[in-house]
Amino acid sequence: MSTRTDTTRSAVLYARALDVLPGGVSRNTVLRAPHPAYADYGVGCRVTDLEGVTRIDFSNNMASLIHGHACPEIVRAVTEQLARGTAFMMATEAEVRYAEHLCSRNRAFEKLRFVNSGTEALMAALKASRAYTGRPKIAKIEGAYHGQYDYAEVSQAPDPKTWGSVDHPRSVPLAHGTPESALRDVVVIPFNDPERAIAILDGHADELACVLLDLMPHRVGLKPADAEFVTALRDWATRHGALLVLDEVITFRSEVGGLQSRYDVTPDLTALGKAIGGGFPVGAVTGRAEVMEVMNPLADRLLLPHSGTFSANPITTTAGLAAMEKFDEPAVARLNALAERAMKGIDDAIRATGVRACVTGGGSMFRVHMKERTPRNFREAFLGPEENRRLKVLLDHLFAEGFLLINTCSAALSTPMTEAEIDALVSALATGFEKLVAAG
Ligand SMILES: Cc1ncc(COP(=O)(O)O)c(C=O)c1O
Repeated sequence: MSTRTDTTRSAVLYARALDVLPGGVSRNTVLRAPHPAYADYGVGCRVTDLEGVTRIDFSNNMASLIHGHACPEIVRAVTEQLARGTAFMMATEAEVRYAEHLCSRNRAFEKLRFVNSGTEALMAALKASRAYTGRPKIAKIEGAYHGQYDYAEVSQAPDPKTWGSVDHPRSVPLAHGTPESALRDVVVIPFNDPERAIAILDGHADELACVLLDLMPHRVGLKPADAEFVTALRDWATRHGALLVLDEVITFRSEVGGLQSRYDVTPDLTALGKAIGGGFPVGAVTGRAEVMEVMNPLADRLLLPHSGTFSANPITTTAGLAAMEKFDEPAVARLNALAERAMKGIDDAIRATGVRACVTGGGSMFRVHMKERTPRNFREAFLGPEENRRLKVLLDHLFAEGFLLINTCSAALSTPMTEAEIDALVSALATGFEKLVAAG
């Protein structure tokens, strides 16, 4: 925590923040000792803090900024819209235009509804699954993060003391006070283990509304799902009248139509968020028209009343459209190639230094693990105290060297980046690895 002798602008600001915000922050992920770094401004792939220090931003607001900061096309479009109003108790053309654009990117996106966050998108997708099937339960991957809806949150962060046997992972609450009923209605399955997953699902076949899957779950290890795992879940859901819901809140950035376009699979619903907001709060639920119909207020019977004061506001939809039009096929391919270059460079540095680490990723993201062997699931990706200590040394080193990363040592690229920024990160990681090796 900050001391009285620290008179930097950030320390003074944090002392004020502690009086009014629990822990002095509005989101836990920005906390760091002795105080958070306060952003002053960002341009392109660089952000400058209140102390005047500029860093290359590989966090991109938790993988949500695909074009970095203050992207000129987005600034221009939003500035124009700001002067014309920000939110109306009326529909707007911007919302229709953007829904048309997103639906044109993937044939599985037949109908779409905008919401205000990824959390809300997942909540809408899970409620739509229940409304469509008339069933109460959802299945999810152990350790996967899907936002803060009670059901989505179950077993988001279990540990070896709570997670139970690998054949029957327990439904572990995240928040104190989570109702037992929510825990009972969530079935937890292991990642990339079709045999065990199907055996668990079979035990709840008539009660499951959906199987929820992130194709490259960040906290589970940021490793793409195996094709056979995805196919097994798709087939199981089809056979048993449940829906397959994909969480592409993060992974949509991997391909023009989302990471799902790399698989031979069509989900019933997809939750979107982050990058599709062009830097503004956003979420969307999209998928099969027949399933999305549960939200249709013109239907004979409305099964899922759905609304939101700021949903589809014209600032978000204008920014989102500008961002996604610019994130076309060549832009996606270029960013993915930069990520591949980074992963190869990091892998080389790991071999050269002999550090106990490995790198995983896909699309325009990657993650460095303090593990010799590539983790295959949440339990293998779970960091013990010593690994956590080494991770902190590495992250502090990178921060001091001028790099911002997601606190799992993950990076999400943005289009203003070039090979120069990638190579600079690889080189800083290499010196970080050397430090770790020297420290034993
Ligand atoms: C895969 C995934 N789903 C859902 C969410 C929730 O999104 P939001 O923070 O916009 O509520 C996140 C956020 O990190 C996420 O990574």
